Amino acid sequence: MFKTIIKDNYDQISSEAFRIMKEVVKEKERPVLGLATGSSPVGMYKKMIADHNSNGTSYKHCVTFNLDEYVGLPKSHDQSYYTFMHENLFDGLDIPEENIHIPSGDADDEKQACVDYENALKQYVVDIQLLGIGSDGHIAFNEPGTPFDAETHLVKLEEQTRIDNARFFDDDIDEVPTQAITQGLASIMRARKIVLIATGKKKAQAVRDMIKGEKTTDCPASILQDHPDVTVILDKDAASLL
Ligand code: GLP
Repeated sequence: MFKTIIKDNYDQISSEAFRIMKEVVKEKERPVLGLATGSSPVGMYKKMIADHNSNGTSYKHCVTFNLDEYVGLPKSHDQSYYTFMHENLFDGLDIPEENIHIPSGDADDEKQACVDYENALKQYVVDIQLLGIGSDGHIAFNEPGTPFDAETHLVKLEEQTRIDNARFFDDDIDEVPTQAITQGLASIMRARKIVLIATGKKKAQAVRDMIKGEKTTDCPASILQDHPDVTVILDKDAASLL
């Protein structure tokens, strides 16, 4: 079930997402946070760091699981999701490194890395899962056509996703990895609560298909129609086709 919140600007969107996140962090004894990359959650991550610095909100008791990671980039690469998460969130908080989980995109055996990641994830129940959405309706790196019952797996990235993400690779699509490890749709659906952020006209069709379209693997995010607690936080552009 979707609760849709439309805000005037990105700062208000980030504040709303942060408010929901902080409630979980404060309430739970051992909060399990499902984290996302992409530009959508960055404003919220800034607010978590600012709140940690000025109000002393601690994240020492939190465990985190990221959604996905590119295959073939070393952790130290400036566009690995490992680097992204440390630069945009973890370096500013007090989460112990051993509580942080990100799929290993540089493992020798990627398939085994997927199995290991899913097994680690299954030791917990994610209390709050943050999501963005791709312009083709993907969540994490579950591209159109991904079966709804998929768990953590290796994926080939769609051309559209690589074009969308080339902006992070000096606009050079050849630099964008062709594969990734991603939590599956079934892994994501196990989270107790989901918060999805989307902004801009480019996301409007995907947002419409997710909420109002048919439930179909053509729009992976449409599986969220079956989840009991999804908050979608949008700007007016992303909400323009609802
Ligand atoms: C990538 C990530 C997704 C993210 C999407 C949208 O493909 N794997 O998790 O939701 O980008 O990113 P942005 O928020 O930058 O639009």
